[in-house]
Amino acid sequence: MGSKERYHWQSQNVKQSGVDDMVLLSKISEESIVENLKKRYMDDYIFTYIGPVLISVNPFKQMPYFTDREIELYQGAAQYENPPHIYALTDNMYRNMMIDGENQCVIISGESGAGKTVAAKYIMGYISKVSGGAEKVQHVKDIILQSNPLLEAFGNAKTVRNNNSSRFGKYFEIQFSRGGEPDGGKISNFLLEKSRVVNQNENERNFHIYYQLIEGASEEQRQNLGIMTPDYYFYLNQSATYKVDGTDDRQEFHETLDAMQVIGIPQQQQQLVLQIIAGIMHLGNIGFRECGNYAQVEDSDLLAFPAYLLGIDQTRLNDKLTSRKMDSKWGGKTESINVTLNVEQASYTRDALAKGLYSRLFDFLVEEINKAIQKPYEEYSIGVLDIYGFEIFKKNGFEQFCINFVNEKLQQIFIELTLKAEQEEYVQEGINWTAIDYFNNKIVCDLIESKLNPTGIMSVLDDVCATMHATGEGADGTLLQKLQAAVGCNEHFNSWNSGFVIHHYAGKVSYDVNGFCERNRDVLFTDLIELMQSSEYGFIRMLFPEKLDVDKKGRPTTAGTKIKKQANDLVNTLMKCTPHYIRCIKPNETKRPKDWEESRAKHQVEYLGLKENIRVRRAGFAYRRVFKKFLQRYAILTPETWPSWRGDERQGVQHLLQSVNMDYDQYQMGRSKVFVKNPESLFLLEEMRERKFDTFARTIQKAWRRYIARRKYEQMREEASSILLNFKERRKNSINRNFVGDYLGMEDRPELRQFIGKRERIDFADSVNKYDRRFKSIKRDVILTPKHLYMIGREKVKKGPEKGQIKEVLKKKIEIQTIKAISLSTKQDDFFILHEVEYDNLLESVFKTEFLSLLCKRFEELTKGKLQLSFSDTLQFKVKKEGWGGGGTRNVVFSRGQGDLTMIKPAGKTLNVSIGDGLPKNTKPSRKSAPQSRGQPGYHQTKKHGPPSRGLPPTPRDDYRNGAAQFSRNTPQQDQMYTSPNKHGKAPPATALVKHGATNKARQVSSSCDMEFLNVPDQGVAGQQRKKSISKRPQPGVGRPKPQAKAAAPKCRALYQYVGQDVDELSFNVNEVIDVLLEDASGWWKGRLRGKEGLFPGNYVQKI
Ligand SMILES: Nc1ncnc2c1ncn2[C@@H]1O[C@H](COP(=O)(O)OP(=O)(O)OP(=O)(O)O)[C@@H](O)[C@H]1O
Ligand SMILES: [Mg+2]
Repeated sequence: MGSKERYHWQSQNVKQSGVDDMVLLSKISEESIVENLKKRYMDDYIFTYIGPVLISVNPFKQMPYFTDREIELYQGAAQYENPPHIYALTDNMYRNMMIDGENQCVIISGESGAGKTVAAKYIMGYISKVSGGAEKVQHVKDIILQSNPLLEAFGNAKTVRNNNSSRFGKYFEIQFSRGGEPDGGKISNFLLEKSRVVNQNENERNFHIYYQLIEGASEEQRQNLGIMTPDYYFYLNQSATYKVDGTDDRQEFHETLDAMQVIGIPQQQQQLVLQIIAGIMHLGNIGFRECGNYAQVEDSDLLAFPAYLLGIDQTRLNDKLTSRKMDSKWGGKTESINVTLNVEQASYTRDALAKGLYSRLFDFLVEEINKAIQKPYEEYSIGVLDIYGFEIFKKNGFEQFCINFVNEKLQQIFIELTLKAEQEEYVQEGINWTAIDYFNNKIVCDLIESKLNPTGIMSVLDDVCATMHATGEGADGTLLQKLQAAVGCNEHFNSWNSGFVIHHYAGKVSYDVNGFCERNRDVLFTDLIELMQSSEYGFIRMLFPEKLDVDKKGRPTTAGTKIKKQANDLVNTLMKCTPHYIRCIKPNETKRPKDWEESRAKHQVEYLGLKENIRVRRAGFAYRRVFKKFLQRYAILTPETWPSWRGDERQGVQHLLQSVNMDYDQYQMGRSKVFVKNPESLFLLEEMRERKFDTFARTIQKAWRRYIARRKYEQMREEASSILLNFKERRKNSINRNFVGDYLGMEDRPELRQFIGKRERIDFADSVNKYDRRFKSIKRDVILTPKHLYMIGREKVKKGPEKGQIKEVLKKKIEIQTIKAISLSTKQDDFFILHEVEYDNLLESVFKTEFLSLLCKRFEELTKGKLQLSFSDTLQFKVKKEGWGGGGTRNVVFSRGQGDLTMIKPAGKTLNVSIGDGLPKNTKPSRKSAPQSRGQPGYHQTKKHGPPSRGLPPTPRDDYRNGAAQFSRNTPQQDQMYTSPNKHGKAPPATALVKHGATNKARQVSSSCDMEFLNVPDQGVAGQQRKKSISKRPQPGVGRPKPQAKAAAPKCRALYQYVGQDVDELSFNVNEVIDVLLEDASGWWKGRLRGKEGLFPGNYVQKI
């Protein structure tokens, strides 16, 4: 899209709502930030900036500004050009990656249900739309997009906070070729909340895939997999919640299958994936009863179906669920004995198997996606981090603890990079700086993960796990005691009778210690691994690859250690990229649009540290770059720096800054980096750079178009000459002339275009001579389109405010099919008569051959007949009737004269024309092109001084509207072939499918159930510290754009954005004020802006 069409949004009559960038807030307080966000939210603007950070408020409805139109609008545009948008941030990442050759990442943070996953999907969608690519790349793009429905089906679930809550963390690296095509990718997933497989809280569901399978399975699948209603299964009926508002499980099931297909999972494996899901559901229905202190399977009929689906032996399953092999050392020898389990232990074992199966299946799917898009080497990448958000439930277990810990770590990165590092850098680089205080949550991260001095919660937990008894009884109590001893005096920690409270950055969370040790230990008993390794399905055996005969040394890795390592690895990965941030805000817990809960929003604004963010931003520098990178990026701006600067880098940077006349107070030179204060100043540089590139691109484009056009016109020229062949002499200079078509440069002639239909194509346009009844000649612009012929003249305005001005008027609009005939002489002159019904036109044009051939072609298209052409040296034409007199005819008589110039002599009603001999009538053009005799269309030479020779650009259109909303993850449906799982000829054990299923152990979910945990959380010490630490006032007005100095010259204000097309033109944005130096009658004015003088179109501004 040409930059000319990118109008600033303010010109689209878009209502201004609050401020786009909160750096510009007149008062910086949490209240004013909330107020600004609210105002914008209520006006349907969900995005707002704090400098480069994007704030996104969940609208809980589809907004209309995510269409292809916006994708086009934001592509290659500078941040300030359009309203804040996630596309702008994404485009910026993509461009930075390409220009600077640096990997980028975007950290999307926010609490559960704030819109992180939706944001991540918009980013992926945008990247896949704007980047090119052949078949292979398209395939990668498909997989990237299709990975979403697949991973959501298996990794997302309905929680009370979010109907589509991600129950795993995901870092998706999209890898690009050096040409910017996404040709690979890699997903890293973090800690799936697998406890959900066996148990869900009130009003929550298991992972979506269960309900999708139940709703969407075909009749055959129902039979083979033993699909019943969801309340039949214990693993689904505990919360008695089966449906989610606005979700069609059946349809999503097909999308999940499609996704597996696109990713390339073979049919048979797809079938086995579903078979395992069904197997887990049936496994959950195996209940136990107490029998002399030992557990016995309640109903052995219920063993058959899960055993069948998992391809294992039923008796063996029975044994492994009710007993466990234990190694005991006896006199130096190790002996294995079978220990019988009690009911609690047996249920625990069953659940462990279900969770183990599910999480391995999930990892398999992630791996399949990775395999399908892996690339042998890495070039560039953009990483998108979408993890589970900070959450507080009524009962918070080990998983919430891990989830909240990861969020704490991400907040840490944000603080490190935007608040801490930024300020430290100023000091390091020797830039004048007054420190701004903020709450640093490192203290909370340390409380959780510190190894020593003092030992953090995770280390204490690992220690307890290492020493705990195999069944873990009493371990949780011990943990609580040890925690009290180790971190009891930390101000962010409190303990209570069955758990502990952590004062997180985002609020106080009370954790129930029950189950912490078991979940942390996270080992799957050897017995269960052996059991699954005995499956008849290779696929299932592949999910359990452990080598059990190899002795394990040292402590097994705990879940806590794993997540700690993953979180730290992630931080390291992110630190290696150029980071970008999206901070999602959840405006309510009702999930309704336009519902703004003030205290909830304020709470998030506070803990996200938005106020401090704005302060640091305002007082600081919007942009910094090491000298070398800066020189590379802007090298194109001056001949001295292109292609590379020779000499001291620092001086090179200064040279560049001076070449764009950047104000001295707008930048500072550090020791190794240049710091630019305002984004506006940076945009100036960016814009200049873009324009340079644009000019080069245009030159290449133009050359190509000219080449193509030349070839086409060569052919046309041959065709054209055939209409005159043997009838008319030809001019020496024009026989081999190339055809150009538009000799008026219609593209830039709004005064002419106004008469022509919006979408009408211009076949031919030129200025011709028209002779009136007295043979006086007058100029007419003749424009030929596929259906019409226009004749445009000029007249002086007689009345009104424009009196005395010369204006274009449409003299005639002729429908081509109404033309009767054309007559010409046999000499080499340029006259021709256009015969119409009432009267005719005597015209003279150097490009008559080109014009006539096009006219004939169009006439034939419209009438299916040939336009009559006659050749004679005595021609006659009818003139228009005027009043009483007039009408009648005039003659034109051609005679042989001297030379190539036409001599004309009017005599009464006859015009005598004489001209020397031309080329013989049978001359044909030669194949070789002749040099151009006149201008090219769209090619304008701009005089060094004075206005450009071309017409003014048209006034920008004003019809911008946001299109219809669309956000789809679907691809065209593919028919699925499903083969039944009984590949070994075994039929499903129909009798084994017990009718009663699992006892419905649904808790009574009363409407009055305790939902207090959904309230805005208590801020705890983190909140108080924040208040204490951030009371410093910033200096007023620091970091704001400098007010323009007043000048005495007349001024005008830009109505539209204008991007200069040549070196002597000015570029400006809407509302910019320009000093007017000269108002030229041609419409090209001369003015001064930002210290630069240049030309600009007067119709783009309004005088003030
Ligand atoms: N930009 C948006 N436009 C329309 N609806 C949105 C948008 N963002 C979020 N939503 C709505 O909010 C819901 C929750 O958003 P999302 O799943 O992205 O939250 P999340 O931050 O990923 O939460 P979690 O941490 O639980 O995974 C979406 O399912 C959707 O209904
Ligand atoms: Mg999510």
